[in-house]
Amino acid sequence: MAVHKIAVIGGDGIGPEVIVQAIRAAERAIRHDPEAELDWSSLPWSTAYYKKHGRMLPEDGWEVLAKHDAILFGAVGDPSVPDKITVHELLLPMRRKFDQYVNLRPSYLFDGVPCPLVGKAPGSIDMMVYRENTEGEYAPVGGVLYPNSPDTVAVQTGVFTRRGCERILRAAFEGARTRRKKLTSITKSNAQVYSLGLWDEVYESVKGDYPDVQSSSLLVDAAAMDLVRKPETFDVIVASNLFGDILTDLAAAVTGSIGLASSANINPTKKMPSMFEPVHGSAPDIAGQGIANPMAAILSAALMLDHLGLAKSAVAIRSAVAKVLADRKVKTPDLGGNATTAQIGDAVVAAL
Ligand code: NAD
Ligand code: IPM
Ligand code: MN
Repeated sequence: MAVHKIAVIGGDGIGPEVIVQAIRAAERAIRHDPEAELDWSSLPWSTAYYKKHGRMLPEDGWEVLAKHDAILFGAVGDPSVPDKITVHELLLPMRRKFDQYVNLRPSYLFDGVPCPLVGKAPGSIDMMVYRENTEGEYAPVGGVLYPNSPDTVAVQTGVFTRRGCERILRAAFEGARTRRKKLTSITKSNAQVYSLGLWDEVYESVKGDYPDVQSSSLLVDAAAMDLVRKPETFDVIVASNLFGDILTDLAAAVTGSIGLASSANINPTKKMPSMFEPVHGSAPDIAGQGIANPMAAILSAALMLDHLGLAKSAVAIRSAVAKVLADRKVKTPDLGGNATTAQIGDAVVAAL
């Protein structure tokens, strides 16, 4: 029996609400891999934890996480505490500390999901974003001079390294080989000539190693337009940290709802745990109402099972979610229905 140790951080707002359903779905799905067992440990790290202890996680928190095979994460962020603490002392350092440099974010137009774009057939939009996850515009490098004065100076430096660009580009090319073999590298090197100029240079040098992948480079403003105008033309997208963040909310909206957008923060070496979380945040506007769509979290659990080598269970979850959506009977409000978070969980478990 292979036991996979999973750390669970529900976090804030709708985070814990959706994660409960993701665990239920994973527990039911794991029957498809009878030799495997999931061992969950729930960690209370959140805004409430911060208010009690003055920190987002205990002193040995990173060591605790490092002992797990994977981390299932809900969301953090609460209007009562600045994101500078909640997000910047837990979520973003986690991606860096465990060198989770590949942020995989699929977007797929499921049957049964209304598309805001006219005339798009189910399955016609099917993209996989490879977002650089450890450096770029998110590097915590900068500072503020003369705060709270008319002379305030704020500096935030993007950090782009050849190694960082090369490893995410190669991961994306490898990923494209397993899909429709089409890749779009998205930058803004006409404006950010140094940093994204380096990205483009590395893209040009790497693409020759993948002659079987049809690749091109696109500027992010044009890419935003094309994601609305002709999203079906994209297969694999590779982008920097900030652009990948923005484009994946856009891709989620184009495929029906952020409530369906899953993500994996992967350290491909498997020497440190990878982390799986919905693309969405803590959604304070609907938290506590029991109406958040848990499918993004459930599909993130499927990405986790894939990463753990439990492909049969992962496929079972994706099929169950697809079936519930195609049935069109149980939908949360983001998809135009009035079902609760728990009812979606029930329906997915029943489909499994
Ligand atoms: P958000 O993703 O939380 O919410 C944006 C909108 O989408 C809201 O209207 C919300 O109701 C809706 N929404 C999100 N998830 C949904 C779901 N599962 N079902 C139905 N509707 C859903 O983004 P925000 O409002 O910009 O951020 C809120 C807080 O979350 C902030 O503190 C932010 O920093 C944080 N955040 C955290 C993460 C994370 O922990 N991974 C991700 C994004 C934002
Ligand atoms: C996401 C979130 C985070 C990000 C925030 C909370 C910093 O928006 O995971 O998409 O930008 O990476
Ligand atoms: Mn985001």
